[in-house]
Amino acid sequence: MDGNGRWAEERRRPRLFGHQAGVRSVRTVVETAREIGIQYLTLYAFSTENWRRPSIEVKGLMTLLKSYLDSEQENMLRNSIRLRCLGEHQNLPGEVQAALARVIDATSGCRAMTLNLALSYGGRSEIIHAVRELASQCVAGTLSVDDLDEQRLSDHLYTGGQPDPDLFIRTGGENRLSNFLLWQSSYAELYFTEIKWPDFGREEFLEALRSYGLRQRRFGKTGTQLRKG
Ligand code: IPE
Ligand code: MG
Repeated sequence: MDGNGRWAEERRRPRLFGHQAGVRSVRTVVETAREIGIQYLTLYAFSTENWRRPSIEVKGLMTLLKSYLDSEQENMLRNSIRLRCLGEHQNLPGEVQAALARVIDATSGCRAMTLNLALSYGGRSEIIHAVRELASQCVAGTLSVDDLDEQRLSDHLYTGGQPDPDLFIRTGGENRLSNFLLWQSSYAELYFTEIKWPDFGREEFLEALRSYGLRQRRFGKTGTQLRKG
């Protein structure tokens, strides 16, 4: 979800004004995804690198996050949306952790859609976290090195038990992955748009999905193999 700051700067407003506008896009995209039957939606809200921003911006983002969580619980329950958090949630301020834990717990039985919020998330550190867990099992003798495979590593990521993403959308005109779902996105279709996140609404989201629908996903096979089924 990139481009909030530049969107605000274009309007000669503080960066936080852009983040507030970004929350409206979050609501629209979550609602649209739920309506059209997307089962897993992951929003990259705050990276491990974002802690390096000026503390006033970090504080503002955390306040926004807390108020989003407080205001959305009811809506998530009504629409059967299960909330999960990907990332080092222990690094978030106490009141954000508490709000997260409350909504995650309240929505744990919801089944229509899973909404992952990536918070204090970094793809490389996620992989290291999983490797450490697996390595300690090997050292303890509960896991043999020969049983270490792709599935087992996937299971130990924050997204364990969830399917890999089909579509990766980046707004704001930057053409890079920025440490997002590095392992999981190995076969994701990439979609980059110049549109800044606060301007990314229902139509822009549907356009990304239309573009995805036109792609041929071969997973290493040839087009002829796919046509033969
Ligand atoms: C939102 O956009 C990303 C968050 C960390 C919330 P940015 O804040 O990165 O916006 P730009 O890139 O400065 O425009
Ligand atoms: Mg940015």
